Amino acid sequence: MLDQQRLAILGLGKIGGTLAGALLEQGVIAPEQLRGTTGHPESAQAAGARYGITVDCDNAGAVRASDLVILAVKPQRMPAILAEIRPAVRPEQLFITIAAAIQTGYVEKQLGQEISVIRGMPNMPCLVQAGMTVLCPGRRVSQEQLTLAQQIFAAVGRVALLDREELMDAVTGLSGSGPAYAYVIIEALAEGGVKAGLSRRLATTLAAQSLLGAAKMVLETGEHPAKLKDFVTTPAGTTMDGIMALEEGGIRVTLIRTVLAATRKSEELSRQTGQSELDP
Ligand SMILES: NC(=O)c1ccc[n+]([C@@H]2O[C@H](COP(=O)([O-])OP(=O)(O)OC[C@H]3O[C@@H](n4cnc5c(N)ncnc54)[C@H](OP(=O)(O)O)[C@@H]3O)[C@@H](O)[C@H]2O)c1
Repeated sequence: MLDQQRLAILGLGKIGGTLAGALLEQGVIAPEQLRGTTGHPESAQAAGARYGITVDCDNAGAVRASDLVILAVKPQRMPAILAEIRPAVRPEQLFITIAAAIQTGYVEKQLGQEISVIRGMPNMPCLVQAGMTVLCPGRRVSQEQLTLAQQIFAAVGRVALLDREELMDAVTGLSGSGPAYAYVIIEALAEGGVKAGLSRRLATTLAAQSLLGAAKMVLETGEHPAKLKDFVTTPAGTTMDGIMALEEGGIRVTLIRTVLAATRKSEELSRQTGQSELDP
């Protein structure tokens, strides 16, 4: 339970709404401690009914009434929202921004206060409480505030900490975009199954569960993936033939380049945000 702390989630969309739902469902926060905002009165009404909390379009009002604020709107909405809430901000508040390519320094500067800002990068599986969120503290964040943020995002999956904000682009390129890469891999594996005669439905289940199980083994055993791979590769068996085909197709280099390409794009977007919004 987040003691008596009051939390505002600005942008109760996919990620913000999922977070609200999980925090309430797990009893991490009581409905009267949580409020949210959306961009339109109709969506505010729907979210209010869904989560049983106060939801409106008054961002400054929500900030005024809270100790912690999660900024969960789209990156392009951030400049306007930061300008809107600026008069309501108090120095003792904690702000957590999850907008891609928005740096803690940018939020600090736009809010014009000596405030604590944590940058978070969650990913889509938060929607099924199997997310990966990486948190990176800004300059004024205390250990206690970081622990609080960890507690909040643990409601929707695993949480890791990073102390070098410049690496958040790599996080975006790996775990932020990673689920999309996994969907392509699942789809392709399933097509292999279809080609070999399985129904598409069964093939998709087999592919998805194999990835889920393999990922669970990496996380739960702590073993190096190469060791686990060797474990299932019988000498002169079927898996080795499959692995040879994978390597011939250049899967390793392709995936390394995939993460780097997305990382570079994130760096480019971060630079653009910095230049257009931070510089006078
Ligand atoms: N989805 C992901 O996998 C993912 C992963 C990592 C990071 N993120 C980051 O998370 C943030 C939210 O993404 P999302 O996928 O949850 O987006 P989303 O589903 O589109 O939600 C955005 C929310 O912001 C609300 N909003 C729009 N204008 C607003 C305003 N002026 N004041 C208050 N709320 C406003 C929208 O309300 P209306 O519906 O009324 O417009 C909606 O509830 C983004 O910055 C994104 O970069 C997302």
